[in-house]
Amino acid sequence: EKGTYPHYMLKEIDEQPLVMRKIIQAYQNEKGDLDIAEDIIEAVKECDRIYIVACGTSYHAGLVGKQFIENMAKIPVEVHVASEFSYNMPLLSEKPLFIFISQSGETADSRAVLVQVKEMGYKALTITNVPGSTLSREANFTMLLHAGPEIAVASTKAYTAQIAVLAILANVTAQSRGLNDGFDLIHELGIIANAMETLCDSKEEFEKIASEFLPFTRNCFFIGRSFDYFVCLEGALKLKEISYIQAEGFAGGELKHGTIALIEDGTPVIALATQENVNWSIRGNVKEVVARGANPCIISMAGLETNDDRFVLPAVNELLTPLISVIPLQLIAYYASLHRGCDVDKPRNLAKSVTVE
Ligand code: M6R
Repeated sequence: EKGTYPHYMLKEIDEQPLVMRKIIQAYQNEKGDLDIAEDIIEAVKECDRIYIVACGTSYHAGLVGKQFIENMAKIPVEVHVASEFSYNMPLLSEKPLFIFISQSGETADSRAVLVQVKEMGYKALTITNVPGSTLSREANFTMLLHAGPEIAVASTKAYTAQIAVLAILANVTAQSRGLNDGFDLIHELGIIANAMETLCDSKEEFEKIASEFLPFTRNCFFIGRSFDYFVCLEGALKLKEISYIQAEGFAGGELKHGTIALIEDGTPVIALATQENVNWSIRGNVKEVVARGANPCIISMAGLETNDDRFVLPAVNELLTPLISVIPLQLIAYYASLHRGCDVDKPRNLAKSVTVE
């Protein structure tokens, strides 16, 4: 039930801090350490490469998950869009492990790949919000998101839950491989939950941004580098899906290879700047679009901010920034949809779970 909320989407955005805390609890053992099932740890340790397969928002979470697993557990990871996988099957490694990410656990494109790789004799782990879903039943292992039912077509809390669970998977397998670098993920996720709360309490700021930048625009660009780029892809999907504004997420450095031709007077460009090592370069990209008339909205992180920034996110661990930088983008999409009179929870032409290939 959505209770006093006008839309499920807003309720689900607000639930994100609570979901983070539930995930920490669900994956904690009696000693208070993060833990996952032994057979999953074994499967990850045995494999020589991980293939993440997913669609839409879950694919975007997979892009972040790849960085976690490679960074922490030092296992190479490829991320694939499910609908492309069967006919563009990559050359597989000797001992692959497949990870399917799916909120619903019912997405037909992902299931088709699962059936295919199982026939080939490979092991699969499904990360899903729905216990007993098709992808969960048909895989060898399951990790649950513990996000509670997600009703709005636009996925929000499932995305952050997927990222948190992928961080736990990466962290626990890193430890079991003796790669513990003292990273206290429980503590960091606690900080994330608090930062999420602060952002959920700042809704008017994001409503203002939406009404200032997006009420009449035909298109909108999201730019970022590194982790911010992945979040930009998600922010653009959110905006297109529920406000019908043509939106694209771009890697800051890729703009000049074509897309910058689309920048006109007043084109909104939302830039994320949460990564220290690329802070200077992304700000350079913002200058490039501003010189062509763009209307920039920079969202940065405390410690990296400048006077040009429209909103400054609370500081969190740099690896985990996608968990909080996505929240402004979810809320901006929500208010843009609302202001444009669209059906926020049930956008046209879309279903919550896509059960046809
Ligand atoms: O249930 P799944 O996670 O497998 O769904 C995948 C996509 O259909 C889904 O994420 C879709 O992109 C969302 N509507 C995006 O908000």
